Amino acid sequence: MGKLVAISDLHVRYEENRDMVERLRPADDEDWLLVAGDVGELSTDIEWALTLLADRFARVVWVPGNHELWTPPDDPVQLKGEARYRWLVELCRRLGVVTPEDPYPVWEGEGGPAVIVPLFLLYDYSFRPPGTRGKREALEVAEEAGVICTDEFLLKPEPYPSADAWCAARVASTRARLEAELPEGLPTVLVNHYPLVREPTRVLRYPEFALWCGTEATDDWPKRFNAASVVYGHLHIHRLIHHDGVPHHEVSLGYPREWKAYQKDPGRLVPVLPAGKTAVGR
Ligand SMILES: [Fe+2]
Ligand SMILES: [Fe+2]
Repeated sequence: MGKLVAISDLHVRYEENRDMVERLRPADDEDWLLVAGDVGELSTDIEWALTLLADRFARVVWVPGNHELWTPPDDPVQLKGEARYRWLVELCRRLGVVTPEDPYPVWEGEGGPAVIVPLFLLYDYSFRPPGTRGKREALEVAEEAGVICTDEFLLKPEPYPSADAWCAARVASTRARLEAELPEGLPTVLVNHYPLVREPTRVLRYPEFALWCGTEATDDWPKRFNAASVVYGHLHIHRLIHHDGVPHHEVSLGYPREWKAYQKDPGRLVPVLPAGKTAVGR
């Protein structure tokens, strides 16, 4: 019987990470792979990796990370923001990869049935440093600490005025869709590039970086939408926590210097179901 497995933050711009992706293989012909964002920045790199994975796994489900949404000056695709996201969705459709814009597939293999819910929600600067009241004040505190995310230069939110405005639109439309479409009685697996709750960001080396790591608006989503498991990446802190009884898997590979220092078995695909059974070592 097939397994539902996950990975994120493949960052294939790095040669050693490309080698790692070339070694990713399903254990069983029926395995599905969840890819929780940050495959890479260049459209050519993203296409290379998703093509390879879609050829190998019975099904691949992808959500965008911030890196896919950048418009790097050396990328042949110079679309920005929403237009770039739509281009990526069309690329995935050509490859048969499931995106947040597609019907939610039902996993029927080991640990199923469960509805697989790929999410694209971004962040809204609400994971603020203590004592700060709004986005502007929080960004000032981060700047004073020398912390600023590259997104501020390369992630263009067009046609929205800001990443937080884009996030608000995505949260509202996604919540409405989930409330209307999720079937009664089936558990879900929520897949997002960012953590859905703030707790995982408490261990960031630079706590101000949490501003670019999610939104408080999804804090009750794991319970509200009956999650058996939550899958995320972005933090590059590979681990499993339980929050309100729900397992939250951070499944990143990360940059070579990180996985060499912190992961015992880098590139290992994380089993997602049955929920919470597998401890994840760093
Ligand atoms: Fe990443
Ligand atoms: Fe990221």
